[in-house]
Amino acid sequence: MNSISFRHAKLNDLTRVKYITKLAYKISYKENSFITRSHEPNNLKDIFLSKKLFIIVAAVDKKIVGAVRYKILEKNSLYIYKLAVLKTYRNKRIGESLIKQIEVVAKKKGFTKILLDCAQEKQLPEYYKKLGYKIDIVKKHQDHHDVYMSKKILNKIKINSF
Ligand SMILES: CC(C)(COP(=O)(O)OP(=O)(O)OC[C@H]1O[C@@H](n2cnc3c(N)ncnc32)[C@H](O)[C@@H]1OP(=O)(O)O)[C@@H](O)C(=O)NCCC(=O)NCCS
Repeated sequence: MNSISFRHAKLNDLTRVKYITKLAYKISYKENSFITRSHEPNNLKDIFLSKKLFIIVAAVDKKIVGAVRYKILEKNSLYIYKLAVLKTYRNKRIGESLIKQIEVVAKKKGFTKILLDCAQEKQLPEYYKKLGYKIDIVKKHQDHHDVYMSKKILNKIKINSF
């Protein structure tokens, strides 16, 4: 694989990010395993412009092949969601690197905790456990379980504005 780079998404990356997220969520990690849909808000552009949401993308030869979103929560925490890697680029540590990029942001900006939730039926808690996330609560739904996980971030420093 050619060189891979990570950066914050720009406004004109949004269409590609939406596209790869939709595609990634259509294909499960293992055959016959649970799939969840990725819903997009109609006003994604506005949310992005108002900095209520940030996106980190992974690009191979300038082509975006993976993305993850995060937002700022109260109490110095970040919330990670919609981690997506295109099928042909999976198992190359792109997903892991995207999560680590957010951890770098958290350290730099002084956030002390990262939270996320994922579906138990997609085996995702195991994925995040390998990255150091711990299970806080499991919520049972009719056809799946949502697993809420978090990781403490050390090196607390003063929060700068974005
Ligand atoms: C989950 C996802 C982002 C992983 O991306 P990736 O770049 O292939 O992952 P990495 O290369 O960093 O990690 C690969 C390792 O994680 C494991 N893994 C990948 N997806 C997994 C899953 N859903 N459950 C458990 N393990 C998983 C692989 O088997 C591999 O294990 P190994 O280290 O023992 O070889 C990708 O499969 C994807 O886009 N899935 C669909 C969307 C989705 O479900 N996103 C998560 C929302 S919370």
